[in-house]
Amino acid sequence: MDKKYYITTPIYYINDIPHIGHAYTTIAADIMARYKRLGGYRVFFLTGTDEHGQKVEKAAALSGIHPREHADSMVDRFTGLWEVLNISNTGFIRTTEERHRKVVQHIFQKVREKGDIYLGEYEDWYCVPCEGYYTELQLKDGLCPDCLRKPEKLKEESYFFRMSKYTRPLLDLLETHRDFIMPEIRYNEVASFVKGGLRDLSVSRTSFSWGINVPNHDQHIVYVWFDALTNYLTGIGFLEDEEHFNAFWPCDAHLIGKDILRFHAVYWPSFLMSYGLEPPKHVFAHGWWTIEGQKMSKSLGNVVDPHDVVKVYGVDEFRFFLFREVPFGLDGDFSQHAIVHRINGDLANDFGNLTSRSVTMIGKFLKGRIETPEKKGGMDDHVEDTVMKLIAEYQREMDVFGFHKALHSVFEIISVLNRYIDSEAPWKLAKDEDPRVKTVMYNLWNSIRIVAVLFYPFMPQKSQLIWKALGIGKPMEGMDLEEEMRFYTPSDIAAIDKIAPIFPRIEQQV
Ligand code: MSP
Repeated sequence: MDKKYYITTPIYYINDIPHIGHAYTTIAADIMARYKRLGGYRVFFLTGTDEHGQKVEKAAALSGIHPREHADSMVDRFTGLWEVLNISNTGFIRTTEERHRKVVQHIFQKVREKGDIYLGEYEDWYCVPCEGYYTELQLKDGLCPDCLRKPEKLKEESYFFRMSKYTRPLLDLLETHRDFIMPEIRYNEVASFVKGGLRDLSVSRTSFSWGINVPNHDQHIVYVWFDALTNYLTGIGFLEDEEHFNAFWPCDAHLIGKDILRFHAVYWPSFLMSYGLEPPKHVFAHGWWTIEGQKMSKSLGNVVDPHDVVKVYGVDEFRFFLFREVPFGLDGDFSQHAIVHRINGDLANDFGNLTSRSVTMIGKFLKGRIETPEKKGGMDDHVEDTVMKLIAEYQREMDVFGFHKALHSVFEIISVLNRYIDSEAPWKLAKDEDPRVKTVMYNLWNSIRIVAVLFYPFMPQKSQLIWKALGIGKPMEGMDLEEEMRFYTPSDIAAIDKIAPIFPRIEQQV
């Protein structure tokens, strides 16, 4: 059977300049997408931009242009960054696209016909920057509980979604699908919120006009989150390409930050259940990055632009750092010191030296060729067994977004290999003309080739360079994973010689 995998990032507000937080979710999705492709899955990887709402309307008005023009001028910031970061998305959606308007109106209409959307009156507090609605009780000293700015009081005719009706179905979903929300701490948060009972949700506005009109009631604009969440359907061809849509829905994983968990874990499955579509299989909420120990904010002027980071440290180094430094799901701190430490320690010393020493030895002792072992001893058998065991651990972790532990397994392989070189001292074997030198080189070549494959989702460009250094010319994409995950004697590789360092040390005082 054709294996398929559908993964998404949130769609980003176009008003923001993309920063490390946006890059984090998108790189995580890219890692998973690449990993699944290696495993033979047909992957659909969707990202995009969230372009409606009062904030966009206001920003455009300030510049004296139409909101659409404003959106058009901002979207390249995102697509441009994804190119720089080597993001392999297969779809990109803008909520201002016509195909999306059709889907949102269709869903709204059907849910209304079913009686799950009704007209009522809405009185609440609205925070413009957060696009969030709060009851009197949720405010903190009269201020928005999220950003502590003054919210606006709203009283208007509004459509409501009967979310209260979905309290029980959602609890059932949570009970029967323990891994619907990941990691567990987020699952518990959602479960206790839903247990408290859900209240109906206002899903239309009349106070601004930049958005999608409610069908047959033009004064109303569909609530931005109803509009935004629906992108996950539009993006894979809902209403346009039934076959494609049915192949990929339900979504395998929505990756999001912890701040937008409720929208994805409560609102979204309720909308879907009401319409009659299956909820997504998993919603994974990751933590937040602080910068040098401080919350990232425009006012502090410490917003990290990923372009700046990759200019100094490199794209793959940045991608690697984000997932090596902090367990995926927890909060983390980004600092110059930490990234330099990771690059120099893990990449330049532990892995880079291992690779260049091995390549040099293969060139010098075996004239750049790898041959089948004839004689074994010392740690020889242990190496292959350990690599196989750690590959299995890596795969187990990758399958559940355990990127951090997966990388840990790769570094265990690296440390075994470093110990192996020290204990077997291949230069002595070569000097004594002991044929076991071939065995050691065979083991090193195979293990490093495998490490490059395991690193590939995180560092696609560097991994390819490692293969090249090992004499392998073929592209890593489209490799036969099963074949590559075992030890073999290569028949068609280029002669192996010296290489320039793949991970140069960063000589920088921090
Ligand atoms: N437009 C909505 C999402 C709609 S999805 C149907 C939105 N956009 S956003 O641009 O504000 O944020 C997108 C993502 O960036 C969120 O997942 C959020 O968690 C993430 N991050 C923003 N700042 C962050 C950090 N400092 N650290 C990590 N991720 C952070 O919300």
